[in-house]
Amino acid sequence: MTMKIGIDRLGLYSPNYYVDLAELAVARGVDPNKFIIGIGQSEQAVPPAAEDVVTMGANAASEFIDDIDKSQLGLVILGTETGIDSSKSGAVIIQRLLDLPRHVRTYEIKQACYGGTAGLMTARDYVAAHPDRTALVIAADIARYGLASGGEVTQGAGAVAMLISANPHIMTVEDDSAFLSADIMDFWRPVYTDLALAKGKYSTEKYIEFFQQAWAEYKRNTGLDLKDFAAINCHLPYTKMGMKALKTVLPDADAADQDRLNANYALSTNYSRRIGNIYTGSLYLALLSLLENAATLTAGDRIGMFSYGSGAVGEFYSGYLQADYRDYLNGAAHKAYLDQRVKLSVADYEAMFNSKLPYAPDDVVTDAALTTGKFRLAGVKDQERQYVRL
Ligand code: CAA
Repeated sequence: MTMKIGIDRLGLYSPNYYVDLAELAVARGVDPNKFIIGIGQSEQAVPPAAEDVVTMGANAASEFIDDIDKSQLGLVILGTETGIDSSKSGAVIIQRLLDLPRHVRTYEIKQACYGGTAGLMTARDYVAAHPDRTALVIAADIARYGLASGGEVTQGAGAVAMLISANPHIMTVEDDSAFLSADIMDFWRPVYTDLALAKGKYSTEKYIEFFQQAWAEYKRNTGLDLKDFAAINCHLPYTKMGMKALKTVLPDADAADQDRLNANYALSTNYSRRIGNIYTGSLYLALLSLLENAATLTAGDRIGMFSYGSGAVGEFYSGYLQADYRDYLNGAAHKAYLDQRVKLSVADYEAMFNSKLPYAPDDVVTDAALTTGKFRLAGVKDQERQYVRL
């Protein structure tokens, strides 16, 4: 019998502030329905200067890290495209903040929004080779395109942490991936700026093309079809995007399968609609949203996962829900957290957006009062970032 490997735990963190996208639309002279319906985003998480991928990643993992056997950990990977240093990985800082053992391999992975899946697949292979060990994979990002830019409505911030193990409690990650890569310029971020550059329409076309090619390859390799899936989760740069891709293949399914996949897709977008794009973590935010909002799913259901990272890599794989997966979720707490966040006016959102630490060697002290997580970036001193545990 083959060993089951997959996601044993899931943790989520997103900043405590958001901007209402209907209000942002009005401020930008856009019909609010374009943002709410056309793009499919209602709220957008806004990070204060004291939060970055390290603090958000540590906060997401802190949801379960004290409940697991840390001595089993052999690997810690941070998947991010908004890292805090060009050399040193944020993963080693997270290792310290979480009091993880010293004898673990710890590093960061980059390939746009694919970095979380790259980390997950590396962790899967690691556990396959070392079944008594576990791996912590964190996908964390801050999506920034610039005030009043075309991509502004698709910004966001947050992190999803996953523990990968043998005999996982939540979902297996099957060894059935179909993937493809190609050197294209649809979205990128040069090293001199913290604002992403995107060819909006072109990136949307490429996402759909990569989905279609990965799905066709997956069907060829596995003999599976849409009827075999309870749900298909997609990377969600904005909630309409995955549906644009799915719509191109859904007509191949019968009506009942289409209804099920449409309904579950809608549930997979609940959290993204309120948080925005978290790049590497977006696909796993969709998974969390689906599992914590879908009442009809049951153990044994096969869930499809489509990962897309601009530049570009696409991958389709699947997993099975495990017997007691509901006992390892935290839906009520996640929803209560999202509901209690502080809404910023557009002016306050713009001020917080502009308060981000500059690309400059200056000493900075951040506003401690603006963070709610357990970990905070206190500032920068002598060009070293100062992280604290609260
Ligand atoms: N009521 C309802 N709908 C409306 C409307 C209204 N009043 N006004 C416009 N719309 C609809 C449009 O019809 C359109 O619908 P369809 O997409 O179904 O045709 C939708 O709103 C969007 O309108 P536009 O195409 O005019 O939007 P835009 O030119 O402002 O661009 C965007 C939207 C491409 C997402 C842009 O915000 C962007 O560039 N974002 C960043 C790049 C991105 O997210 N790319 C996604 C693929 S790349 C990827 O996945 C990696 C990643 O994470 C970045």
